Amino acid sequence: MHNAPIVVAIDGPAGAGKSTIAKEVAKRLGFMYLDTGAMYRSLTLKALREKIDLNDEASLTALARSTRIDLKIGDHHALKVLLDGQEVTEEIRSPEVTNNTFYIARTAGVRDVMVEQQRAIGAKTNVIAEGRDIGTVVFPNAFCKFYLDARFEERANRRCKEMSEKGKAVACAQVQQDLQDRDTKDLTRKVGPLKIADDAIVIDSTNMSIQDVVQKVIDHIQSHG
Ligand code: DC
Repeated sequence: MHNAPIVVAIDGPAGAGKSTIAKEVAKRLGFMYLDTGAMYRSLTLKALREKIDLNDEASLTALARSTRIDLKIGDHHALKVLLDGQEVTEEIRSPEVTNNTFYIARTAGVRDVMVEQQRAIGAKTNVIAEGRDIGTVVFPNAFCKFYLDARFEERANRRCKEMSEKGKAVACAQVQQDLQDRDTKDLTRKVGPLKIADDAIVIDSTNMSIQDVVQKVIDHIQSHG
């Protein structure tokens, strides 16, 4: 029996399937799904709207401190993201936000604020937390850690398919290029870079179905207890 809430960490590069897997595992176990990328995205949206200089660390940090981001689960277990009380669920997935999140994510003061808020959530309730630095920085003592990966071409194909299914016009070569850029930025930033925690279970999902990955994650969590 665990008295403190249980935290499960899922890290990995963009397009590895973290959101899909984390959402499904959270639903099956009745845990909260904590999408930390949605927090960085929301703050990026606000900074763009307010035309804040994305290289100005102090302003970005002050913005993070004065912003309220809420992650709610709506109908059919869909994640609803609220920025200062206003819904931004779709808007934070736009290419403009995606391509500018890097400025927000590399700012140490912003990360401090985000990490603090993420820890506060994890201290209250059982969570499946998904991101880049969850097992290494946010929750180094997580109950169970996963690093979800897939071959680059597969991740790019998944992204491309996902976007065309949503009816968005996409050039797959551009998707590949953007993904490559994001990988580089995620891996090389000085604070909270994407890194495999020493005690993480690495899952390569290249040739696995979603259900197989979900089952593998759940089996590990249950055998950990
Ligand atoms: O997982 P995502 O694609 O929604 O994340 C958006 C961006 O936010 C991603 O480029 C890296 C950043 N991010 C981060 O720096 N740390 C996290 N814990 C989660 C996301």
